[in-house]
Amino acid sequence: MNFTRNDFPEGFLFGAATSSYQIEGHSFGGAGTTHWDTFAATPGNVVRAENGDIACDHYHRYPEDFDMLAAANFDVYRFSTSWARVIPEGTGQPNQEGLDFYDRLVDAMLERGLKPAATLYHWELPVALADKGGWRNRDIAAAFGEFAEVIMGRIGDRVWSAAPINEPWCVGWLSHFLGHHAPGLRDIRATAHAMHHVLLAHGTAIEAMRAQGVKNLGAVCNFEYAAPADDTPEAAKAARLYDGYYNRFFLSGLFKGEYPADVMEGFAPHMPKNWQDDFALIGQPLDWVGLNYYTRKLIAPCDGPWPAHKEVPGPLPKTAVDWEIYPEGLHHFLTWVHTEYTKGLPLYVTENGMASFDDLKDGVVDDQPRIDYLNAHLDQVRKAAAEGVPVNGYFTWSLLDNYEWAHGYDKRFGLVHMDFDSLQRTPKASYHALARALAR
Ligand code: NOJ
Repeated sequence: MNFTRNDFPEGFLFGAATSSYQIEGHSFGGAGTTHWDTFAATPGNVVRAENGDIACDHYHRYPEDFDMLAAANFDVYRFSTSWARVIPEGTGQPNQEGLDFYDRLVDAMLERGLKPAATLYHWELPVALADKGGWRNRDIAAAFGEFAEVIMGRIGDRVWSAAPINEPWCVGWLSHFLGHHAPGLRDIRATAHAMHHVLLAHGTAIEAMRAQGVKNLGAVCNFEYAAPADDTPEAAKAARLYDGYYNRFFLSGLFKGEYPADVMEGFAPHMPKNWQDDFALIGQPLDWVGLNYYTRKLIAPCDGPWPAHKEVPGPLPKTAVDWEIYPEGLHHFLTWVHTEYTKGLPLYVTENGMASFDDLKDGVVDDQPRIDYLNAHLDQVRKAAAEGVPVNGYFTWSLLDNYEWAHGYDKRFGLVHMDFDSLQRTPKASYHALARALAR
């Protein structure tokens, strides 16, 4: 790497991130069926219809995985808790095996000096709730509050931080408007409902966890830099709208008690009843905000109904999932979130990383492109910190190659290579480089 930990402000935390469905192995330990299981079992949704049944078998192999995290000198580990593992039917009877698992997991982190950074929901919704309309149904907020109480009742005394929902944009827009993720809907009314209810659920869970005394509560949003595809005012307007429903919608709800006017031009007729009354609950005070950042998009106008725009391929070098590499966007968002919304609250980069074509040859994976990507993005983090943005930590996505949702196991984001047949783990060059840079 082109840095050591001493090049960052005192106390800056380095971490790696994962999520439950992507690594644990959902077929173990009494977990209930989720909408990702049924989405994956439906032809055409996921490459080779792969699912999270086994994934990285982290459910059984977490000690080995945490040893690797500790040996790479990470300070903090971002993981998620599977709702269906903890409460298989979504509400009601908890699964003791599931609670015991997360109990062991948190203790195993602490034993190795890793701070546990919990995310409650990283996308695998219990089917019993999906059957009732999932994120389209307002009742999900109360059910999510119940889940928050149950899981934090067990591990909330030992986690370093907790955030209710990973990437609300993906839960809302990607899953209900673009149909790329479960439940695979393409419906504007479903989207407007889901995007509002996801914030309602966030607020409900924050309120519940605060009441339990859980410390260091935050929100994790994802951001894409929206650039106009050309110099026309039409392209500028199109990019601005993309920025609205991607980057501004959730922060406006959380910090300003309103939704952006340009997004409401499309959403207003489709919002749930009395949505304006929910901002007091949505806007619960937070202790930090996490930014997940990977790429930028070039946006052009097109014919058709709102939002009447499309993505066009850009000229920059791309990762294995065809995402342009644009590190400056991370500096932009750290600065913008701080000045426009959070105004002094600690910020964390809760995800950043790349998919690359990582071949294992003679026991070695030379993933120099990942090293370059991490260096370039961490340069931007350092720059923002030097300019006074309170960015206090950085988590790379991901520790392990894992289940990359609709891409199945094809796309590799890990610092550690996974052989998905033998489940053998092999640290890549990026892992070794980070371990050296983070030595204390
Ligand atoms: C964001 C998501 O939180 C994570 O689940 C996903 O694997 C990475 N980005 C890469 O796409």
